[in-house]
Amino acid sequence: MLNVTDLRVAYGQSEVLHGLEFHVAPGEIVAIMGRNGMGKTTLMKSLMGILPTKSGTVAVGETDVTTKKSHERVADGLAYVPQGRMIFSTMTVEENIETGLTVTGKSEVPGDIYELFPVLLEMKKRRGGNLSGGQQQQLAIARALASDPKVLLLDEPTEGIQPSIIREMARTLKRIRDEKGLSIVVSEQVLSFALDIADRVLVIENGEIVHEDTRDSVDEAKITKLLSV
Ligand SMILES: Nc1ncnc2c1ncn2[C@@H]1O[C@H](COP(=O)(O)OP(=O)(O)O)[C@@H](O)[C@H]1O
Ligand SMILES: [Mg+2]
Repeated sequence: MLNVTDLRVAYGQSEVLHGLEFHVAPGEIVAIMGRNGMGKTTLMKSLMGILPTKSGTVAVGETDVTTKKSHERVADGLAYVPQGRMIFSTMTVEENIETGLTVTGKSEVPGDIYELFPVLLEMKKRRGGNLSGGQQQQLAIARALASDPKVLLLDEPTEGIQPSIIREMARTLKRIRDEKGLSIVVSEQVLSFALDIADRVLVIENGEIVHEDTRDSVDEAKITKLLSV
């Protein structure tokens, strides 16, 4: 469902991603783990077309999106929950979610989104900036789901979120995958969260994938070591 080959991304002369390759199956959840500065956000932004690629290809299913703009990638099925959530703090909850609807042609927020996040229904007239961190994360996920994606990308969704809310987020993401059948790629530093949701774990170090495990045969000690140097 998401196919990435030989992905190279640079800031000016400085190459940060050195030819990444990975493939995500329909309905699969893949966690991309790595310490700060290893290239997780750069990867997410390049998948979304926010950063240009130096070489390589990105395809959503059969559709090559490598040269497409962000909004075209959204129409082709990619959705993005950025690091730090980036919700619109002066807009209401409802308006925030509506910004995700543009590519679908719908004008109202589908009921199933509020079913997944009942707190957002309660708060739909409140300003985004007045929500707690966990609620803002739910809002950012709801906004991404409003475009009816095939692949949902989340960049460090647990950052700054308290443990009980992290567990709830894991349950919700698995429910979204089960109900909608979409694929999820999530970047993470928290191994317990990754093991809770992911079918497969990749570890990125200095812009290269240095380790890969399926959840059933995961080498926790090795991943912990890679994350803690
Ligand atoms: N706008 C930028 N300009 C130059 N270098 C950047 C920029 N953003 C990130 N980098 C560098 O790219 C590397 C990967 O950063 P990033 O993708 O943000 O890592 P992560 O999300 O894993 O913490 C780091 O070395 C970082 O300093
Ligand atoms: Mg980052």
